Amino acid sequence: MISRVVVVGAGTMGHGIAHVCAASGYRVGLHDEDRDATRRAVEQIRGTLDRGVELGKVTEAQRHEALNRIVVTSDLERVLPEADVVIEAVPESLEIKASVLRRVEALTPRHALLASNTSSLSIGRLARELSEPGRFLGLHFFNPVHVMKLVEVVRGPSTSDQTVETAVAFARTLGKEPIVVRDAPGFASSRLGIVLGMEAIRMVEQGVASPEDIDRAMELGYRHPMGPLKLTDLVGLDVRLGIAEYLHETLGSEAFRPPELLRRMVAEGRLGKKSGRGFYDWSDT
Ligand SMILES: NC(=O)c1ccc[n+]([C@@H]2O[C@H](COP(=O)([O-])OP(=O)(O)OC[C@H]3O[C@@H](n4cnc5c(N)ncnc54)[C@H](O)[C@@H]3O)[C@@H](O)[C@H]2O)c1
Repeated sequence: MISRVVVVGAGTMGHGIAHVCAASGYRVGLHDEDRDATRRAVEQIRGTLDRGVELGKVTEAQRHEALNRIVVTSDLERVLPEADVVIEAVPESLEIKASVLRRVEALTPRHALLASNTSSLSIGRLARELSEPGRFLGLHFFNPVHVMKLVEVVRGPSTSDQTVETAVAFARTLGKEPIVVRDAPGFASSRLGIVLGMEAIRMVEQGVASPEDIDRAMELGYRHPMGPLKLTDLVGLDVRLGIAEYLHETLGSEAFRPPELLRRMVAEGRLGKKSGRGFYDWSDT
């Protein structure tokens, strides 16, 4: 039975994962090597819960209980020996993740499930750092974690069936909709999303339609909540370029080749919402 979850890395994703775990009744140990990050994480979780109370989605008691279930610690040795699930959400670097996972494995009981929230690294490659890779897999949450329903459960070459089953059941207890994906570049979500995004940019380049109309085609014709160009603006053109280059390199399909227009916009600093301009003007937001 799972009762204690440890989240390593308290940034954008780590704080969100800690929040949903605590709100779902788990005791949570939240660790970051940077004390400011854990302080900010707790403030963000409190802020999100406060907004939930204002909107009537969370009761005062639920807010109070969720916050009480989270223990922030700079000392992994204190929380890991009691963990049933450990989710790492440290930066997307093989070196950092490898060293965190080795440390985590050494300090956790053998029954504990170990997961990485990586959005692009190979689960098989990360598993090579572990002596018991059968209990390791990817749990890919989406941002903002308390809102987004999808969790990709990524099965590595050595992940056991039992680990996949436990992870799927665990994700459901968080109110998420898990899908099981083999460890392949881009998993399911980025692989499909990037093809659509790159083709939409090629259509702008070729003057097929305006960005607004291309987005409307998918929003009204296919019921996507948001068109691929607006989504690219929100994620960041530089981030999407990086993923497209990686998928083009690893999967080889021309569908992932980044269009010249995307490269030019990134070079000019038109990165989307965060820089004020991408395919849309965000300067007023
Ligand atoms: N941001 C997203 O939209 C998103 C979505 C899905 C998955 N991801 C993945 O989630 C992971 C985390 O991304 P993020 O956006 O939350 O990053 P982030 O930079 O916001 O947070 C990472 C945190 O890890 C901490 N950290 C660094 N090294 C550490 C160590 N050795 N031990 C403990 N803590 C350490 C940092 O201090 C930081 O607070 C990445 O693998 C990323 O690819 C991100």
